[in-house]
Amino acid sequence: MCSPALSVLIPAERIQERIQQLGAEIAADYPDGPIHLVGILKGACMFLADLARAIDRPVRLDFIGIASYGKGKTTSGEVRLTKDLDLSIEGTDILVVEDIVDSGVTLNYLVHVLKARRPRSIRIAALLDKPERRMRPVEVSYVGFQIPDEFVVGYGLDFAEDYRNLKDICILKS
Ligand code: IMP
Ligand code: MG
Repeated sequence: MCSPALSVLIPAERIQERIQQLGAEIAADYPDGPIHLVGILKGACMFLADLARAIDRPVRLDFIGIASYGKGKTTSGEVRLTKDLDLSIEGTDILVVEDIVDSGVTLNYLVHVLKARRPRSIRIAALLDKPERRMRPVEVSYVGFQIPDEFVVGYGLDFAEDYRNLKDICILKS
């Protein structure tokens, strides 16, 4: 599935296995009532779609758009809201669903924005975590895989909008 510029880091089957485990954990952890899943566009779309179906209880779906990267491989340090939620989150149990936590700038900002809207609880699920690169603190309750400091694409993650539809998560060689 990967081209010569790419090498597989996490094959599709392992991604799916891990998401089933995360879904079961999340379903068991949350109090009664719907879990309000907030997917961060666009990278988290594949993870959100699979995770939602791995949680065997009522969930609601919403999306938020955040831009912190330009066309390169590193954060610009600036975060912009490009699309707001459709639903009110006041009094709800929120699970923010993100593809990858890198510097932490995006999630640190987003958690502040969402907390101001008074949800009952807010947690984060991230498929991938690059802990070595953290610049801002972020508390991630559910992590799929910790990965080394490599630029990865596939399963929703892009480089300049390419590679999102790869089934595997692959390292993109520079
Ligand atoms: P942070 O604000 O630095 O934590 O960056 C988070 C965002 O940067 C993620 O939502 C991704 O969109 C993007 N990102 C970080 N690392 C990678 C990577 O290795 N591949 C693709 N996108 C990445
Ligand atoms: Mg993203």
